Amino acid sequence: MIRARITAIGTYVPEKKLTNRELENIVDTSDEWIVQRTGIQERRIAHSDEFTSDLCIAAVKDLMHRYQKEVEDVDMLIVATSTPDFPFPSVSSIVQHSLNISQTGAIDLSAACAGFVYGLHTAHSLISSGLHKKVLVIGADTLSKITDYTDRSTCILFGDGAGAVLVERDQQSESFIGFHLGSDGSGAQHVYRPGLANKVNGIELIDTEYLVQNGREVFRWVVRNVPDSIQQLLQKTNMDLDQVDWFIPHSANLRLIEPICEKLAYPIGKTLYSLVNYGNTSAATIPLALDLGIRAGKVQNGDRVLLYGFGSGLVHAGQLLELNFDQHFNRPKSL
Ligand code: COA
Repeated sequence: MIRARITAIGTYVPEKKLTNRELENIVDTSDEWIVQRTGIQERRIAHSDEFTSDLCIAAVKDLMHRYQKEVEDVDMLIVATSTPDFPFPSVSSIVQHSLNISQTGAIDLSAACAGFVYGLHTAHSLISSGLHKKVLVIGADTLSKITDYTDRSTCILFGDGAGAVLVERDQQSESFIGFHLGSDGSGAQHVYRPGLANKVNGIELIDTEYLVQNGREVFRWVVRNVPDSIQQLLQKTNMDLDQVDWFIPHSANLRLIEPICEKLAYPIGKTLYSLVNYGNTSAATIPLALDLGIRAGKVQNGDRVLLYGFGSGLVHAGQLLELNFDQHFNRPKSL
């Protein structure tokens, strides 16, 4: 049997912080409102000449440094992002060239905030099929580039970041326990960035270069659907939530995570999220939260971790993992 193991992780966030207090000078909002309604305190913002590919490369370099890994023999490179440097060429091709990975396939994956989990599922499938041996999965976004900083209902939420993991063929150990994927395109109009079309589901879209979101509709959809989907994942794996050491939902809003935990009767204290200091970084929130847990010494090898991503589409994806990373060689620098 061919097994797939997640062997290493690396992350990166841009240096520049944007605090709630600074946002008070930009839009009609307050630190109190933002903290109370979202849990977010600050986010990181990419420099004007720093793009998603740069964040990806920095996250992979962090992984290489911490785990003493080479990536030249990676044979598939997957970048999950909604904010590619260009519609084409792909971010993955830019990353491939920069990291000197010569014999690899390279694809960008579009599944918004569920992208990293879809990327993991793809990597697992490619390795367990026997077709690939070493897959790099990166979730990265620079949402600040498509955020309207005159719209207080969105600009308080989003930030920039990247997280990368290496998934390798393994003789003994399997990281992937089970998954659940879903899509509900009937809600496509609730979060979008206009592209070539100006309508979806027969609904006229706002003509803007920025991300548009109906926060209340997304909120309702998530609370109605995500807990049931998590239960379906657990049923498929014959596991109970009390066998899950850590739950890592997409970090959209702490007020979204709380009702999910309540519905599942899962302790919020065993939930990891990256939104407090980084905001909603879309495809990067889940690997950032996982890495924060590792850096804090909370998440250990042998732990079972339930990842659940959801977002524009509307799409969702869950993955139950049993962690067995390689040994760290270098202490992670603090994020
Ligand atoms: N500061 C102060 N007031 C604000 C504000 C801000 N930054 N943003 C909105 N408000 C106001 C609204 O204008 C509204 O005022 P009104 O009652 O006078 O019209 C009031 O606060 C409540 O607005 P509402 O949209 O109901 O707020 P909310 O509690 O639902 O929070 C979101 C808004 C966006 C934070 C929340 O809906 C959310 O996080 N939704 C999920 C988004 C999501 O998951 N996106 C991820 C997709 S990947």
